[in-house]
Amino acid sequence: MAEIRLAIELAGLRLRNPTMNAAGVLGLTAGLLRRVYEEGAGAVVTKSLGLKPRMGHPNPTVVYVEAGLINAMGLPNPGVEYFLGELGRLKAEGIPVIASFFGETLEEFVEVASRLSEGGVDALELNCSCPNVEGVGLLGSDPGAVERVTEAVKGCVDVPLFVKLSPNVSDIAQVARAAEQGGADGLTAVNTLRAVAIDVETRRPILSNVTGGLSGPALKPVALRCVWEAAEEVEIPIIGCGGISNWRDAVEYLLCGASAIQVGTAVMSRGLGVFREIDEGLRRYLEANGFKEVSEIVGLAHKA
Ligand SMILES: Cc1cc2nc3c(=O)[nH]c(=O)nc-3n(C[C@H](O)[C@H](O)[C@H](O)COP(=O)(O)O)c2cc1C
Repeated sequence: MAEIRLAIELAGLRLRNPTMNAAGVLGLTAGLLRRVYEEGAGAVVTKSLGLKPRMGHPNPTVVYVEAGLINAMGLPNPGVEYFLGELGRLKAEGIPVIASFFGETLEEFVEVASRLSEGGVDALELNCSCPNVEGVGLLGSDPGAVERVTEAVKGCVDVPLFVKLSPNVSDIAQVARAAEQGGADGLTAVNTLRAVAIDVETRRPILSNVTGGLSGPALKPVALRCVWEAAEEVEIPIIGCGGISNWRDAVEYLLCGASAIQVGTAVMSRGLGVFREIDEGLRRYLEANGFKEVSEIVGLAHKA
């Protein structure tokens, strides 16, 4: 097994393997993110950070459904300044950190990204699944707005910028192209799928926000389709995300065109051991099929 290489280069980032946690499922304290790395992830991703502390929605914010969960957290976070304090501890240990961020205006996106970039994160992940930017219902559903925000952020940071796409759009390839044209170094595909859960006893929606985002295995086929369509459209690398619970799911994403993968809901349902399990399964798969490196299988399903 010695000659199998899990290490990858992703938009200039050198990572020991292609796995990372998905934004938001483990918060952003240095202690928890360090655990993710210790348990085998190649990089760690923060919960989405905004300019100021934000409360999020009242409970209930999470409900388990068949093969997944629906959450409507409302982007609660302690603000960018808080995380810059945590970041120093992670950087002292050489852990690659990708900071997820959002803004309520274009200026806020730029300011949060600049502070994180100056603070020393290794890369940024722009969360497109947020309302009210430039009066747009959902930023990620307007290709023009995605291009403008990407371009504005890219102009003032000097670390790789990943744009995380929303699956709640009619043409994800168009949004992927807009992000690429705006100068994104890579994409993350995808965030959660809009959903509702109803309680038959109270005869009311379960979540206080009524709608939330579906994640977990139920999301996987949709997310794979999004990765497929984005991969057909753009040259920049894609981080696949949505319902990945084991090495086989990870391999499906790589074959579909993802260069790396993120695990969210499965960390909550199966624990942090999922990273090592995926790393080991991936290594066995590559060896059993005569490959030496992860990059050799990226996008193979597209080749005739
Ligand atoms: C509780 C929870 C909180 C999340 N918070 C964020 C967030 O802060 N920023 C973000 O971009 N995505 C957030 N997500 C979406 C995940 O990063 C991921 O895109 C989605 O859950 C699909 O992956 P999964 O099926 O592996 O969970 C959150 C998901 C969950 C379940």
